[in-house]
Amino acid sequence: MDKLLVRGGRRLSGELRISGAKNSALPILAATLLSAEPVTLRNVPHLHDVTTMIELLGCLGVEVIVDDEMNVEVLGGSLSGCRAPYEVVKTMRASFTVLGPLLARYGRAEVSLPGGCAIGSRPVDQHLKGLAALGANVVVDDGYVIADDGGGLKGARILMDVTTVGGTQNLMMAAALAQGTTVLENAAREPEIVDLAECLIAMGAHISGQGTDTISIEGVDELHGAQHRIMPDRVETGTYLIAVAATGGNVLIKHARPQTLDAVLIKLSEAGAVIEQGADWVSLSMSRGRPKAVDIRTAPHPGFPTDMQAQFLALNAIAEGTSRVTETIFENRFMHVPEINRLGANIALEGAKTAVIEGVAKLHGAPVMATDLRASFSLVIAGLVAEGETLIDRIYHIDRGYERIEEKLVQLGASVERIRGGRMDA
Ligand code: EPU
Repeated sequence: MDKLLVRGGRRLSGELRISGAKNSALPILAATLLSAEPVTLRNVPHLHDVTTMIELLGCLGVEVIVDDEMNVEVLGGSLSGCRAPYEVVKTMRASFTVLGPLLARYGRAEVSLPGGCAIGSRPVDQHLKGLAALGANVVVDDGYVIADDGGGLKGARILMDVTTVGGTQNLMMAAALAQGTTVLENAAREPEIVDLAECLIAMGAHISGQGTDTISIEGVDELHGAQHRIMPDRVETGTYLIAVAATGGNVLIKHARPQTLDAVLIKLSEAGAVIEQGADWVSLSMSRGRPKAVDIRTAPHPGFPTDMQAQFLALNAIAEGTSRVTETIFENRFMHVPEINRLGANIALEGAKTAVIEGVAKLHGAPVMATDLRASFSLVIAGLVAEGETLIDRIYHIDRGYERIEEKLVQLGASVERIRGGRMDA
């Protein structure tokens, strides 16, 4: 199992190019199942999860061509299967987004229930309830969602009880080929939803209201081939901004879309960063030695993203003052707290939802364990500011969502090294 060795104490500075967004690329790859014609995707990040999704498309009988710049051409044609097996879905929850497209195009789907994961129980009831409202027959049998289109999906008004990103995506894709109009209310407003809608529109779908909480989808008979460029990864952008801020450095980030990151940029400014931005770039320089402690409360977009909570908590760990970080989206997303405390931070959990952070002037390197994707990067940030060496175990979590992490950090002047292989931990 690979580990990451971080030697702390260097101020990060320089320029960085942001990759395509993982959380956009995954559902958009699933959306290609809706067309019999080729769909070409550009700016696809080279990540473990993307490879898994491409493998899943292969299992369903779709041919995919990837060039050396990660332009991905999904050839379409007819599907040869409709089963997304447990072995795939358990490694990546986003594979559940093939459910909507399979039902809409193939008329039948067998998709393993994703089950819980490290950050929470993550049910899919809203996906299933919405598909049933579109006329699908849905049963859960032996851990699989088995569904058919009930003779053809039909548009409906669906008011979701919970704002869900994956649920909104699954229903938007299913409704794209349903008969009549679907209105999704209390829909997720995340930029990745907008990116998916734009790709579907390029494929011939009739969608409006994406980016608001009410999305209308007028079903069409079929979707056609298209080209789409995956949006820049807002979480990767925010993560590097926080890492640079924590080290007191400065950075110019290119190929980004800072307007998708307002809540994080505002909090970084409150912490003492000077931020400038244009349409596709954002720069940060730290105006003070130590950041100022800032309270955070996660919320669906446009609130502060849960996917940036762990990284900001690491920044608060070395800030001047006391802060409270409240997680409202997932029930178990503080597993990084005991690990950051191993480096000398002073963070206490107040119930399951709130961390109280007394900023400390210094952290000290120590061996730590990554527990999930975003939590892993919070350990990298803590390691970058700690004195001495921090060895982060189980970094396969990081490789799921951060492209060429060592290369990008080294480019900014960090001392980071991947230690390959080693004993498999229990
Ligand atoms: N929920 C339900 N019922 C449902 C669906 C969701 O109760 O049917 C609950 C979940 O349990 C959770 C909340 O609603 O408490 C939000 O879950 P959501 O469905 O919005 O999350 P997701 O679609 O499973 C995506 C991202 C996550 C990100 C969340 C929230 C992808 C592939 N994943 O997950 O990203 O944290 O939205 O923004 O897009 C990550 O990249 O590290 C990551 C975890």
